[in-house]
Amino acid sequence: MTLASWKKVEAEFERLHARKLQDTAKRANLEAFIWKAPHLEADVAKQLIDEGVTSAMQAVAEERGLKAKIADLFAGKIVNSSENRPALHWALRGNYHGIATTEAMAKEAEKAAAFAVKAARGGLGFPVKTILHVGIGGSDLGPRLIYDALRDYSSTGPEIRFAANVDPEDFAEATAGVDPKTTLVLVVSKSFKTPETASNAQLARDWLVKHLGEADANNHLAAVSSAPDKAKAWGAAEDRIFPMDESVGGRYSVWSSVGLSLQIALGADVWQRFLNGAAEMDAHFRDTPLASNTPARLAMMDVFLHTAADIPSRTVLAYAHRLRKLPDFLQQLEMESNGKNASDGPGGLVGDTAPIVWGSVGTLGQHSFHQLLHQGTRQTSIEFVAALSAGAGDKARGRALLSNAFAQAEGLLGGRSEAAAEKELLSKGIAADKAQAQAHHMDMPGGRNSTTILLDDLSPESVGALIALYEHRTFAAGILWGINPFDQWGVELGKILAEQLDKAIAGADAGQRDPSTLRLVDRARIKFKS
Ligand code: F6P
Repeated sequence: MTLASWKKVEAEFERLHARKLQDTAKRANLEAFIWKAPHLEADVAKQLIDEGVTSAMQAVAEERGLKAKIADLFAGKIVNSSENRPALHWALRGNYHGIATTEAMAKEAEKAAAFAVKAARGGLGFPVKTILHVGIGGSDLGPRLIYDALRDYSSTGPEIRFAANVDPEDFAEATAGVDPKTTLVLVVSKSFKTPETASNAQLARDWLVKHLGEADANNHLAAVSSAPDKAKAWGAAEDRIFPMDESVGGRYSVWSSVGLSLQIALGADVWQRFLNGAAEMDAHFRDTPLASNTPARLAMMDVFLHTAADIPSRTVLAYAHRLRKLPDFLQQLEMESNGKNASDGPGGLVGDTAPIVWGSVGTLGQHSFHQLLHQGTRQTSIEFVAALSAGAGDKARGRALLSNAFAQAEGLLGGRSEAAAEKELLSKGIAADKAQAQAHHMDMPGGRNSTTILLDDLSPESVGALIALYEHRTFAAGILWGINPFDQWGVELGKILAEQLDKAIAGADAGQRDPSTLRLVDRARIKFKS
C-alpha cells in the first residue's frame, strides 16, 4: 500500500469507532449530511461518518486524482485501461460534444429511435403487442428494472417479456400465452456469443418458425449487438440490427439500443425524459466540486465503510415496488465493476474492494431478513431508496410505505435497550420474572448505520438520475479503490469451464479436475450423456 492519505482514514475510523453511532448521528449541522443532486437527495446523517472522515476521504480522492479521472471520463479518454477503451455510456444521454465516436453513436441512436416509432405504430408489417427481450446481465437487468419502474407511463405500448436464463423454463415462461404473430423478438447481446442468449435466440427463432413458418419468422426478429455479422447469421435483417459501441459496457448500457424494447414500449417522450434525468446527473457529477459532488461523496463514503471500517456488505432496500429490481441491477453494476483484486495504476489497493451488494423491496424484507439487520451479530451498511411520491396517489398507503422505511432506519440506529423492553412489558402487566427473562431477547443494540436516498418522485427524470447516480458512484469508488471499474475478466473462467464440462457431461474425457467436479459430471452423465 503506497497511498499516503490512507493512514489518516484509518485513524479517523479508530476515532469514530470508539464513539456510539447514536452520538455521532446527533448532528449539530444536519444539512451537511444531506447530499443533494438533481431529483434526489442522499441523507447520510445516520451513517458512520463525520467531518473528519469526509475530509480524510477528500484527501484520498485528491491523491487518487479523482477530479482528473472524472474529466477524463467526460473527455472520452481511455479510462478502461485493460481493454484500452473510453467509457462512453454518459454520452448516450446527450451530453457529448465533439467526440467523434459519440457523434456516431448519436446517429445510431436516431436510427434505433426511428425503428422504435415504426414498430410501435405497426409499421413492421404486424402489430407489436409483445416484445420478447432476449439477453442476460447488462443486456437484461437495466431494461427489466426500467420497464418495471416506468411502465405505468405508457398505457398503449406493447408488453415486454424477458428471457435470460439458459434453463428453457425461463423461455417457456416468457412465451406462455404470447401470440407469435404479434411478437417482436429482440435479441440483445453485445458479443452475440453469450451462451445463454445464443440458446434463447435459437429457441425464439424456432418458436417463430414453428408458428409462422420460415418465410415469415425473420420479419419478427431484431437485434442489438457489437457483432452485426453474428446477428445477421441468426436471421435478423441488416436494417434491424442496431449496433452497440464497444466503449459502452454492458452494465452501463441501458441508455443505448439495449433499451430499444423500452423505447418501443414506453414511447419516445418517456424515453427522452429518462435520458434527460440522467444527463442532469452527468452535469452534476462532471461540474460540481468534489466537496459537494453527491456521487463522488457517496463513493468516498462507500470506500470508508467497506474498506476502512471493513463492513462487508451493503443492503439495498427499495421502498418502492416499482424499483423492486434495483438490488439485482446494482449487484451487477457494483460487483461486476468493482469486485476486483487487481490494482490499476499507482497507489495499489488499500484493502478490500467492493462490498457484497444484496437486498430486496420494502416492506417485504421486514418480514424476512430484517431480524438479522436489527439483532444479528453481523454488520452491513443499509441503503433505503424511497420516493416522496410513494403510494402512486394513494396517500394513506404511500404514507405507510414511507413511515415503514423511516421507522426501520430509526430503529436500526436507536435500537431499544433491555431495560426499556422490560419497562414496556411490565407496563403491559407481565409478571416481573417473565418480563426480565423476555426482555433479554428483546434487546436491540442499535448503532446500525444506514443511508436514505430520497427521490422527489418516480418520474422518468428521477429514475434516470438515480441510475446515473449509481453509475457515477460506482466509477468514482473504483478509482478510489485503485481498480478499473470497466472490465470484467473474472467472469471469463466460468464460461470456459462450462463449455468444457458440457462436453464432458455429453461423454468426452473430463480431463484432470478436482474429485468433486468429476463426481458431479458422472452423476449428470446418467441423464445427459449423448
Ligand atoms: O458474463 C458477463 C457479461 O459479459 C456481462 O458483462 C454482460 O453484461 C453480459 O455478460 C452479457 O453479455 P452480452 O451482451 O455480450 O451477451
